[in-house]
This record gives sequence, C-alpha cells and structure tokens, in this order.
Amino acid sequence: MKINYWLGFLVILSSLNFTSFAQEQYRTKKLFNNDWKFSLEADSSSILPSYNDKDWRTLNLPHDWSIEGEFKAENPSGTHGAFLPGGIGWYRNNIEIKSINKDLNYAIHFDGVYLNSDVWINGTHLGFYPNGYLGFTYDLTPYLKEGNNTITVRVDHSKLPSGRWYTGSGIYRNVWIETYHKVAVAENGTFVTTPEVSEKKASVKVKTELLNTYAKHQKVSLVSSIVDQNGKEVASQTQSFKMGKETTSESLFDIEKPNLWSPDFPNLYQLVTEVKIKGKTVDTYNTTFGIRELEWIPNKGIYLNGQPILMKGLSNHQDAGPVGVAVPQDVWHRRLTMLKEMGCNALRTAHHPFAPEFYAMCDSMGFMVMDEAFDGWWKPKAEFDFGIYFEDYWKQHLESFVKRDRNHPSIVIWSVGNEVPKFTNEEQEKLVTELKKHDTTRPVSQGRGYKGTFIDIAGFNGHGEMRNVLEDYHKQHPDQLIIGTEITHTLQTRGIYRTKTWYRTKDNPAPWEKPSQFKSLEPKVYKIPDLSEEEVFTGISKKYQSSYDNSIVRIGVRDDWNRVEEMDYYVGNFRWTGFDYLGESFNWPARTANFGIIDLAGFPKDHYYLYQSLWSDKPMVHLLPHWTHTGKEGVEIPMVAYTNCEEAELFLNGKSLGKKAMDKTHQIVWLVPYEVGSIKVIAYTDGKKMAEKKYYSASEAKAIDIQVDKLTLEANSSDVAHCEINIVDENGHFVPNADNELFFKVEGAGQLLASENGDILDMSSSKHSLTRKAFNGKCLLMVQPSKEKGVIKVTVSGKGLTPKTIKINCNKSVL
Ligand code: GAL
Repeated sequence: MKINYWLGFLVILSSLNFTSFAQEQYRTKKLFNNDWKFSLEADSSSILPSYNDKDWRTLNLPHDWSIEGEFKAENPSGTHGAFLPGGIGWYRNNIEIKSINKDLNYAIHFDGVYLNSDVWINGTHLGFYPNGYLGFTYDLTPYLKEGNNTITVRVDHSKLPSGRWYTGSGIYRNVWIETYHKVAVAENGTFVTTPEVSEKKASVKVKTELLNTYAKHQKVSLVSSIVDQNGKEVASQTQSFKMGKETTSESLFDIEKPNLWSPDFPNLYQLVTEVKIKGKTVDTYNTTFGIRELEWIPNKGIYLNGQPILMKGLSNHQDAGPVGVAVPQDVWHRRLTMLKEMGCNALRTAHHPFAPEFYAMCDSMGFMVMDEAFDGWWKPKAEFDFGIYFEDYWKQHLESFVKRDRNHPSIVIWSVGNEVPKFTNEEQEKLVTELKKHDTTRPVSQGRGYKGTFIDIAGFNGHGEMRNVLEDYHKQHPDQLIIGTEITHTLQTRGIYRTKTWYRTKDNPAPWEKPSQFKSLEPKVYKIPDLSEEEVFTGISKKYQSSYDNSIVRIGVRDDWNRVEEMDYYVGNFRWTGFDYLGESFNWPARTANFGIIDLAGFPKDHYYLYQSLWSDKPMVHLLPHWTHTGKEGVEIPMVAYTNCEEAELFLNGKSLGKKAMDKTHQIVWLVPYEVGSIKVIAYTDGKKMAEKKYYSASEAKAIDIQVDKLTLEANSSDVAHCEINIVDENGHFVPNADNELFFKVEGAGQLLASENGDILDMSSSKHSLTRKAFNGKCLLMVQPSKEKGVIKVTVSGKGLTPKTIKINCNKSVL
C-alpha cells in the first residue's frame, strides 16, 4: 500500500496547499519555528522589546532542552525523567508586520509547550498555560503594531519530577502565526459526524461555529462543500443568515457510494467551509474527516463499518529516543511505517494528547487511536504533575482536547485517565459527562478505569494480565466490553537472550525474581516453560532482558493473544509499549526500562516479529537468536521461529533439521547444538515456500555498513535522514555483539541531529555527540539539512573498522 502520510497533515495545517478548492485571502496559517533566540539564564527583563538578546543561542523549533542536557544521577527528574535536567528557559522572536489590516484578526498558536508557559508581546503578558500537552492560542490583534513585535516565552520546568515519564522541556511542538477575517469559522469550530453509513450511502452532519468580531451584525452566506480524496466536490450546501457575535449552523449531506475509512483503506474527505459577505469569500476553512461507522456491542466487540475489528494496539509515550519530545515529522513517519508493517492497527496516546501531526498521520496511514486526556486527576501522581492544576483547568482542557481532535476518523476511543489513584465514581462521572458534551460518537474508556460505572469500555492495565481477572469481571458485567489498555507488559533488550524464564513479580521498582514473594502470585501468573535446564547465556547485566518471549511481568504476548482470540468481549489490547521511551528507568544508571518491542533507536527487537506473526497477514518468518555464539560449540541453542505460515523448516549449514507445524504456542522451537556456519529457516503454507531468514556466524568486526532511509532532503526544512549503522565482519556478515566505539563526521549541507544505539545503560549525550558505541552491532544517526542546498557527507569510522561514507542530497527549499 502506498502511504500518503502527509496529505492529512498538510490539509489541516496549511490551507495554502488547497488553493484549488477555494481562493485563500484572509485566513493564513504560517509556521513560526525558525530563528528563535533561547537562553537558560535570562530573567524577566527579556520581556521588553528593547532587551538585547544577541548573546542568546539561535535555534529552530521544535526544541527540547532536556534532551540536550547531560544524564546525571543527581538531576531531580530521577528515574521518572531519565535523569535529564529541567530548568527555566526563555525564548524570543520577532513578528514583522508591514501593515495591519483592520478586517483581520491575528493570533499566535502553540501546539505544545512543556511546561508552565508565560507569553508576552511587546512586554504585555498574554497568558499562562500550565498544561504541557495541549495547544493554546493568544489573540494578538489588540497588541500588534506595524513594524517589529517581540514575542517572549518563559517556560518554567524548574520543579521536577513533573511526570512519571520523560517529559522534555521547552517549545517542543510547532508554533503558528494565524490571520483570519473578523467574520470567520471559530478555532476548531467545525464538527463532522457520520450518523448513518453504508456502502451505498452515508449521511454527513456538519456543525459550524462562526464568530463575528465586528461591532455590527453581518449578513453571511456559509458554503459547506465536501471534497473527496481526488479533489472532486461530491456535495455542497449554502445557508444565508444574519449573525451577531456568534452563531452555530448545522447541515446534513448525503454522499452516494462513500469511500469508507478503515485502517486498511484510510480514505479521507475534506470539508471546505467558506464564509461569504456580499458574495465575497472572507474565510475558507478546511477540515479533514473520514466516513466510517463505529459500534461497540456487548458480547460481540467493536465493529467498524459493520465488520468486527480487534485492537492490535500499542501504548506509546510521545518521545522518540534521542530527539526527546521535539519529534520531526519524518521521525514519526519512520516509526509509524514500522508499526504498519508489523500489522499494528491501533495506538494509545499514553497518557496525554499528542502533537496534531500524529493524528493526521494516523488518519492517512490507517491507525485507530485511543486518545487519552490525562494520567491522574485531582491528586498528582508525580510530585509536580498536572494534578497540581487539575481542579482549576480540567474542564477547560478536556473541552479543548475533544474539540481539537474530534474530527479525526482515526480516533475511535476517548480515554479520560490512567491508573487514577482511588478515584471515585463521582469523579469519573464528572469527566465523562463533560467529555460527552462535546462528542458522543465514540466510546469512553480509562486505563484501569473498570471500577467506575461511567465508562463505555472497561479498560484493564497490568492487573488484567492475571489469570481469571477478565473472565470474573465479565461474569459480573456481561454487558461491558473489555479492552487491554496496557496489556501485555513484557521486557526485552535488543540482541540479549536468556533461556530461563524470568518474572517480574511486583510493580515499581521491579525486583529480580524473589521466590518467596512469587509463591502467592504463582497461580495468578501465566507460566512459560524454560527453554533449557541450565541457563545457556550467562554473565549478562541484570538490567538487560531476554528477547525470547520469556521476560514476563504476568503474561506473555502469546498467551494474551490467545485470550483476545478466544473471548468475544475482550476486544484487543494496547501493549505496554511499542517503542522504548525515556524515563521510568527504575534505577541509575539506566534511561528506560525496556518495555518497548522497538528500541530507542527504532531498531526492532524480536518481539516486533512475534507481533508481526500474530497481527499481519503478509507471509513472514523470523528466527532468533542470531548464530554467532563463539565458545559455545556443541551447546544446544534454542532456535525459535515466529511465522504466520503453517509450518517452518530449519537448516543448519544446509542440512534440514526438520519441518514443524505452527500451533497455539505461536512459536516453533528447535534445540540446535552450536556449530559455526549458517542457519536458515523457511516457512511454508500449503507446502509452498512463503518466506525465509538466514544468519551467519560472524567473525571479528571489520567494517561499517550504512543504510539510509532518505537520500534526498529539502534544504532549510525539518526533514530527517535516518542512517542505520551495522557492524560487519570481513565477509559482510552482521556482528551481533559488536560494541565498537564509532566516530561520526557530518560535512557539507547538513548536520547531525542525534545518535542512538538503543542501549538503556548508555548515559552518553544523545544530541550532537560525534562519538558513540555500537550496541549489539547497531547504531543510528539522524541527519538534518542546513539552510543551503548541496550535499551532506556522512562518514562513520571506528578503530580497526573500514570506515564508510555516504552522501545525501539537499535540494532547494520549495518554501
Ligand atoms: C502502568 C502505568 C504506565 C507505566 C507502566 C509500567 O502501571 O500506567 O504508565 O508506568 O505501568 O509498567
């Protein structure tokens, strides 16, 4: 499938790209990301336009200053925040206005600032916003003057920990300057729903809020048109009325033979809303939406467009390893593409709203989203988290959250919270009732919120991984569907294996298995047999976890997926987590706890392929572990295959070790005495070869191989090329345990954005560092273009290794 991931994003964020639909004149939305000044040492004198910021650093947004800092045991973010620093950051920039148009309103919009931001224009305070995960807008109209206008932003992240995970610090999402006519669609002022949907016909209901900031009434025509993905108008309606300060209008459209939205066919439509005064278009506002029918039926499950659908889902935090929370769009795209290829169809935004572009990509790439508003509520869960402000802001923020996101077809479940300590039914009722004032078309859930009676789908976290918990709940609540909001938790480190099963018997902090404590839990945990009597792989740091499916909190991936397939009321799950995330690292020195099935660098662990075998229909086979076990000659290595085919056959140095059929254990195991050479697995369905994978025993590390995902970037943009480094031997075979120190040189028309090896114990700086060790044979470089077009030359070297240079072209910016 060709994925047009940018379509939704551009449509939403830049109406300029849709001039073919209507002439834009008054409404503009321009990125205001470049050439900001930044200081961690300034004070309030910098709010004045006359302040001299020439010694401040110049940077482009999005920016996260925590990830630029050093990992230090004494940083107060502690285990929660990956031991990275906070502080108080100041940003300044200028808006040049040639002439002020009296028919326009001007605004500045921040997609997200972490945390506690104050904004001034020309020394006048515009406002304070404590929530680091939602966007906010300030009207600049009363304050703007012709010429230079100074914007100053103070970001106060001095009190830590402010979250139970890595939060980042700074203006870490996009900033926009917007203009719109005095009579215009309100911010997030359209709401599109699809009350009736079939393959033959769909009805599309549109609610539009208009604002008039003139002193007088206005006679207005509102033209609402629906445009399909090919740019063809499929319906249009005009309403004319006289309006005062504000008005809301509704219209209903019939669309014949609609192209329905689903994860497999993420078809999108545009609602183009034009406001006309005396025949002249004064506003054009675009809304991306999809036509789909969503039902949640007791005892049956979730139905999309009349078909049952399981949530093959992952929970994720918003950080992307070495870039922290300032995540360029290409980084999101690389990540979501990997998940799509794995067969994942659903994502949960743990535990707060994500950046707008994330949802636009989910719309156009085809992911269902469980969109989460909060972690805890009135009582902070981390000492300085949003709980401090909850009482004053929850209502307003819940409203802006739902209004921001409710047109995304990808969002199929709202979540009002996660593991809220000792919440009451009244509290849950308040939140759900408030949310449903703004949208009733989606079910509401809550991470471990099953004890309240106001949610529509019972969300279970880790507790739901224990034996009989879901079954018992279902007996008592037969009319409620169950979703695993955080199931399964397992841990694994890329390239690390242990043959004896390990259980984490208690939540944070995770102790190593303690038999006495384990006794009472034993009957409740799904046990997984050891792969060998004696441990085959010894001497590994206890902080690294095994990548066989045998490093378990309470249930393994395979047992849990059997439950999803067997129980109609269990509609799927959001695994904890898709990607390793910074923070929650249990103890110094570690940056993360290894819950992801993909590491911090974005390299898949073996569990990625396990899920692929369960979730994807495209024939695949994966084999683990690697085949370089120097010193273990003759020792039986458990070789495990994951496949969605019927059977698999293993070959050692070309000799078949037998075919075996796949069963409900979802893995095929051979015990193979180690000998140097090659090992290969072939998967078959109906006796036909469908897929294969082969590994070689590697000798000493001798050279560097680099694979790049993008060979052409656009100059002066936030494009990112991901350079995946593999250490290889003299025959070009991957060396799975190589940890050579690598040196990076980035010359010409670009710079190093970040490097990452996925090692949770590597506490060296992620950003701009020109050296880093490989971890289990791999390392990643992220490279960004500079302002000018030209060629970026990336060279990676290491002692005793043949270096490698690659070239990336930077084309002229089209902006
Ligand atoms: C859950 C929590 C998640 C994460 C996870 C780690 O209890 O909701 O945010 O902390 O545990 O196991």
